[in-house]
Amino acid sequence: ALRAREALGRLTAVVPDFPSPGILFRDLTPVFSDAEAFHAVVDAISEPFAGTFDAVAGVEARGFLLAAAVAYATGTGVVTIRKAGKLPRAVYSESYDLEYGQAALEIHQSDLPAGARVLVLDDVLATGGTLAAACALLDRAGAAVVGCGVVLELGALGGRTALAGRTVHALEIVRPAPR
Ligand code: PRP
Ligand code: MG
Repeated sequence: ALRAREALGRLTAVVPDFPSPGILFRDLTPVFSDAEAFHAVVDAISEPFAGTFDAVAGVEARGFLLAAAVAYATGTGVVTIRKAGKLPRAVYSESYDLEYGQAALEIHQSDLPAGARVLVLDDVLATGGTLAAACALLDRAGAAVVGCGVVLELGALGGRTALAGRTVHALEIVRPAPR
């Protein structure tokens, strides 16, 4: 986890005014494109949950990168939680709030055996709407969510509250600068 945090500090690109004025965007693409950093992040994100899960769920799109890598490294399966309209068979659907309006995530009803222990991964925890919807989908699919792992938590946006009752581990928590 130390190597992962060091890599995050060194490689995360902090972009002012993206996607809109006043927003300080934390871009993880340079972390994922660096071989050693990606390896460290993939190892560290699953480490707190070692031995507790049978499958890893990734949230479209950026969560897929982490989920597939962790599943491969830990010898588990990978499950896709997708934006609405992408999955061809019967789905469960959960809507969640965006800054403007709503979106929905979906999971196949039958991708997991009942009681499968699932680790849910995404790159960033902000308001928590995305991960809360992902966990709700896994509940409805009969899975046991063992917890959520993220690379970065934007601590000021209330994500922990949205995920009350869930185990959440973040490699790095960004807090607003004191003033
Ligand atoms: C971003 C990020 C998380 C989510 C976090 O995804 O990758 O999934 O927002 O926000 P929240 O905690 O407020 O819900 P985005 O929806 O932008 O899509 P992408 O992963 O497909 O780029
Ligand atoms: Mg996302």
